[in-house]
Amino acid sequence: MLTKLFIETWGCQMNEYDSQKMADLLAKSHKLQQINDPMQADVLLLNTCSIREKAQEKVFSLLGRWKDLKESRPHVIIGVGGCVASQEGDQIFKRAPFVDFVFGPQTLQHLPLYVNQVLAGVKHQVNIDFLPDEKFDNLPDPRAEGPTCFVTIQEGCSKYCKYCIVPFTRGQEVNRSFNDIIAEIHELAQQGVREVTLLGQNVNAYQGQTPTGEPADLASLIFYVSHIPGIDRIRFTTSHPVEFSDTLVDAYAHVPQLVSHLHLPVQSGSDRTLQAMGRGHTIASYIEKIQDLKKIRPDLTLTSDFIVAYPGETEEDFQETLKLVDLLEFDQSFSFIYSPRPGTLAAGLPCDLTLEEKKNRLNRLQEKLAHFALKTQNNMLNKSFSVLITGPSKMGNTFVGRTENNRVVHVVGAHQKLVGCFVDVLITEVMPNSLKGRFLRLNDPYLEQRSFLNDLNGVVDEQRSEEYKYGVEC
Ligand code: 5AD
Ligand code: SF4
Repeated sequence: MLTKLFIETWGCQMNEYDSQKMADLLAKSHKLQQINDPMQADVLLLNTCSIREKAQEKVFSLLGRWKDLKESRPHVIIGVGGCVASQEGDQIFKRAPFVDFVFGPQTLQHLPLYVNQVLAGVKHQVNIDFLPDEKFDNLPDPRAEGPTCFVTIQEGCSKYCKYCIVPFTRGQEVNRSFNDIIAEIHELAQQGVREVTLLGQNVNAYQGQTPTGEPADLASLIFYVSHIPGIDRIRFTTSHPVEFSDTLVDAYAHVPQLVSHLHLPVQSGSDRTLQAMGRGHTIASYIEKIQDLKKIRPDLTLTSDFIVAYPGETEEDFQETLKLVDLLEFDQSFSFIYSPRPGTLAAGLPCDLTLEEKKNRLNRLQEKLAHFALKTQNNMLNKSFSVLITGPSKMGNTFVGRTENNRVVHVVGAHQKLVGCFVDVLITEVMPNSLKGRFLRLNDPYLEQRSFLNDLNGVVDEQRSEEYKYGVEC
C-alpha cells in the first residue's frame, strides 16, 4: 500500500509551486502524505531544473541513490519531472531503467494516472507534451499553507534570450484565464492569505480578459487583485524590462497593495552584451524605467539577475555592469557565471576566458551586490516597518515575518495570534541574512472589520505589558 510521498525540488519558484501541486494532487487521489525522509517514502518524485548547472549529471547521481532504495523496497515508485525530464524524455530510462515514469512541467496534472498505471504494471511512461491550458484546468483546488501564497498567472516564455533553456523546457508563453486567477485568489483570501505573488516566467507579458470582456494586462490583473478583501500585499515575479508597460508603472501610483520592491532582471550593464544576449532593450531604457518608478515610489528597492562572462563579454563590458550596480544600488540580487545550455542559440559561441577569470568577475560583482544589500539593511536599523507575521521563528521565543522589501525579520514581542497580521516592527539589529525587531503595534486595517479583533487586541495588550514588565530587550 502506498502511504508516503517524498518530493525533491530543484530550481525556481515555479518548480516549488509545481511540487506543491504534485503533493496536493496525490494527497487527493491516493491519500499520500508528504514526508521529508526519502528512505520512508513509497512514491519518490524528482522535480528537476536545467537552467544553469550540469543538471543531467546531478539528476543521475541522485537517481543512483534512489536505485538502492528501490532495490531494498521494490514496491517504491519513482517519477522524474521538471525541465530535465522535458529535455531528456525517454532517454532517462536508458541510464536509469528503474525509473517508472517521466513527466514534463506541463503534464504533472496526470500524476494520479501515472501512479495508477505503475500499479497496473505499466512500465516506462513518458509524457512531456506542452499542455499548459490543460494543466491550468486540472490542478487541485488552491490550498493556503500560511498567510503568503504563489499563484501562477502564466507559464513559459517566448523571449528566447540566446542563453536560456526555458522556452524549450517550459514552452511558449501561455496565459491563465483572468477569472480563474481572481477566483483562486478569492479562495486563498478566504483561507487567510494576505500576500500573493503572481507567478510566471514572464508575467508582464500577461494577456487576459476581464469579466466584462475588456483586454487585461498585468496592471489590470493587479488592480482587480487589490480589491479582493484581505489581500493587502501584491508581488509579481519574474518580469522582463521590455514589456514593463506604462500601465504597470501607473499601477505603482494607484495600487498601494503593490509592494515597493521589484525584481527586474537586467543580466548585464553593457548594451553590447545585452544585444548579444538578444534581450531587446538598452541600459538607458532600463534606467529610465526605474527612474519613472522611483518618482512614484522613492522607497522602491530593486533586485535583479546578472550573468557574467557571457561569450564575448570584455573587461570593459563587465565594468559597465559594475557601474550600473553603483548607479542603481541593487538590493539582494542573483548573479551567475554563464553556462552554455545545449539547444540554445548561444550554446556554440566561443568564450576565451578561463574559469579563474570567470570566477573573478563573479566575485567582484557579488562583493558589490553584497555591499549594497548590506547598505539597504543598515538603512532599516532603528526605523519602523510593516511586517506580515508568517509563523514562529526558529530563533528562540520570537515570531518571523517579512517586510515589503522581502527582508526576513525575527520579531520579539509578537504572539501566535498575530500570524497572518500586519504589524509595525522597530528594527533593532541587522544580522547577516535577516533582521531582528521589536513588535510595536498591530497595524492592519483589514482586521478592524473582523470579529476576532477584540480578542486579538486583548492578546496584544497582554503581550506588550509582559514585554514591559520583563523589559524584554531585542
Ligand atoms: N547561464 C547562466 N545563467 C542563466 N540564467 C538563465 N540562463 C542562464 C545560463 N544559461 C539566469 C538568468 C535568469 C535566471 C533565472 O537565471 O540570470 O534571469
Ligand atoms: Fe529565459 Fe529570457 Fe525568457 Fe527569462 S525572458 S525565461 S531569461 S528566455
